[in-house]
Amino acid sequence: MKKKVSKAIFPVAGLGTRFLPATKSIPKEILTLVDRPLIQYAIDEAREAGIKEFIFVTAKGKNALEDYFDAAPELEKALRKKKKTDLLRELKATDMDSGAIAYIRQREALGLGHAVWCARRLIGNEPFAVILPDDVIASEKPCLQQMAEQYAETGGNIVAAMEVRQDETSLYGILNPKEDFQQFVTVKDMAEKPDPATAPSNLAVIGRYILEPQIMQNLNKMKKGSGGEIQLTDAIAQEARNGGQVYGYRFKGKRYDCGSKSGYLRATLAFGLMRDDLKDDLMEYLTEIMGVRQAAE
Ligand code: G1P
Repeated sequence: MKKKVSKAIFPVAGLGTRFLPATKSIPKEILTLVDRPLIQYAIDEAREAGIKEFIFVTAKGKNALEDYFDAAPELEKALRKKKKTDLLRELKATDMDSGAIAYIRQREALGLGHAVWCARRLIGNEPFAVILPDDVIASEKPCLQQMAEQYAETGGNIVAAMEVRQDETSLYGILNPKEDFQQFVTVKDMAEKPDPATAPSNLAVIGRYILEPQIMQNLNKMKKGSGGEIQLTDAIAQEARNGGQVYGYRFKGKRYDCGSKSGYLRATLAFGLMRDDLKDDLMEYLTEIMGVRQAAE
């Protein structure tokens, strides 16, 4: 029987320089889409996929993240007194059981592969998920759950995959597919952020992974790759080249790159428009400004 994936790693040590000055004092994972921080979307997605242990790889200056998941007895008391049951429910979703979260420090910014490797002792000999909170995915069935279902059937290493424009390959890990089964491809090799001219395909890795413990072994010996950093892509590619099972899973859903300003603004609009309490007002405003813009052109 295949093992269930019950542990997830959230690499949240990045400096968030693209969102300075905001990220001078708040971690970028606390930036909100409407009223929920990015990290909350990641945690909810993990929970729905059956994750029970949440491992945060953090760095200096990320204390606000730890506080976010702590109990807030005074706030709860005040809300209870005012009978704000809806808000109390929202708040409960941020509460994590004692022992469900672990925080590990990445002492040096040596890359995504290194961040994941920092959690090796907590992962032990089990499969694990990796969620990059910058990638927010709107979908009917959460992306990681789609992948967990695939994992229950095939096992192996599964990365979320999406076709991107050829001129964008240098922003992503890119798959070199062997066979295409539509829902997923089998992978024979991968490249981190290849030049469009040499990219093996335009099928890109998006920030959701289900990985076998062997990937940690590979990371033990990993050398610096693209950008002078230790890359997770390289450790998975090594597995594919060694004949291990690696799949690119074409998830159903819309991905927002909340690591970039325009992606973040798009996500803010999209998530606002999905909300019953906001969509009418927002739509009216959008129509108004679009009208003004068209008139000016
Ligand atoms: C990381 C990974 C890359 C992946 C991307 C998805 O890159 O290294 O392989 O395609 O996330 O968002 P980053 O965007 O953190 O530079």
